[in-house]
Amino acid sequence: MRISGDNSPESRQRGKDAILAAHEAGYNHFDHADIYGGGHCEELFAEAMSDYAITRECVLITSKCGVRFKDTPSEGLPARYDFSKQYILDSVEGSLRRLKTDYLDLFLLHRPDYLFNPDETAEALQDLVDSGKVRHCGVSNFKPSQYRLLQSRCSMPLIVNQVEVNIHNVDALLDGTLDQCQELGVTPQAWCPIGGVAYPAWGNTFTQEDEARIKVELDRQAEKYSVENWVVMLAWILKHPAGILPIVGSTTPERIRTAKKSLEINYEHEDWYRLFEARNGVQVP
Ligand SMILES: NC(=O)c1ccc[n+]([C@@H]2O[C@H](COP(=O)([O-])OP(=O)(O)OC[C@H]3O[C@@H](n4cnc5c(N)ncnc54)[C@H](OP(=O)(O)O)[C@@H]3O)[C@@H](O)[C@H]2O)c1
Repeated sequence: MRISGDNSPESRQRGKDAILAAHEAGYNHFDHADIYGGGHCEELFAEAMSDYAITRECVLITSKCGVRFKDTPSEGLPARYDFSKQYILDSVEGSLRRLKTDYLDLFLLHRPDYLFNPDETAEALQDLVDSGKVRHCGVSNFKPSQYRLLQSRCSMPLIVNQVEVNIHNVDALLDGTLDQCQELGVTPQAWCPIGGVAYPAWGNTFTQEDEARIKVELDRQAEKYSVENWVVMLAWILKHPAGILPIVGSTTPERIRTAKKSLEINYEHEDWYRLFEARNGVQVP
């Protein structure tokens, strides 16, 4: 979501360098949304694919829609979520045009529209799949009840729920989201997976004392596993049996390459709990 930066030539080159680094390091799944960089992220990705001869077949492209910013498309309109059929269909057309592709591998509904009509939204998803513009559908930031409701109206499986998971935000662990994913074979994707270490996660209310306690445990484990402390954070997420796929948001080539070390760590059950205890400030009962 940051690859286009401020859309200056320098920012755009930095974004393209990040895409190339990820591609060369073996990443094959790229996460987009109609709103990222106001559409510039999708355009830049297409440009990078062309410049670096990255073929369409070797990447999995996700995009999303449903978040509408204040004053769009005209002044005076509030920030809102929108899962109406026409908006979804139009948004996917825009993403395909910017990405210069005929299809999305995965299309996600970005954030639940409190006013959505599940029959209408399911119809839009079905149209997208029937027309070949979207291969698979999923959701993002859905609570289990919201997932169940939409899935009850869809004949296709909603194969992904992309939610925030990091050391500061473990809601998905506690509110049944990850349990539901395991029960139904839905793949959870974690957004902001290392943000919890590098910068405060969204809505983070942790005190300096909490942060210091977490850091001590992360540093201890970093030394034990011979990796950077934020790589431990990824290993902690990957340890969960739901098979969480972290969506790494770095635009720094070295960090993109280094993140892969998390896949090689034989992360111990006990260390998962040590870090959980450090973030909670108390041991489990
Ligand atoms: N579905 C949703 O609602 C939703 C919401 C937010 C994001 N997303 C998706 O998830 C992706 C990842 O989210 P995210 O970018 O917040 O997650 P992230 O990977 O946890 O954070 C990446 C950011 O943290 C910085 N960073 C990481 N480690 C660092 C370190 N050790 N020192 C300094 N800075 C460090 C990165 O800087 P560098 O670039 O310098 O590495 C980058 O700005 C996004 O790109 C987007 O595709 C989805």
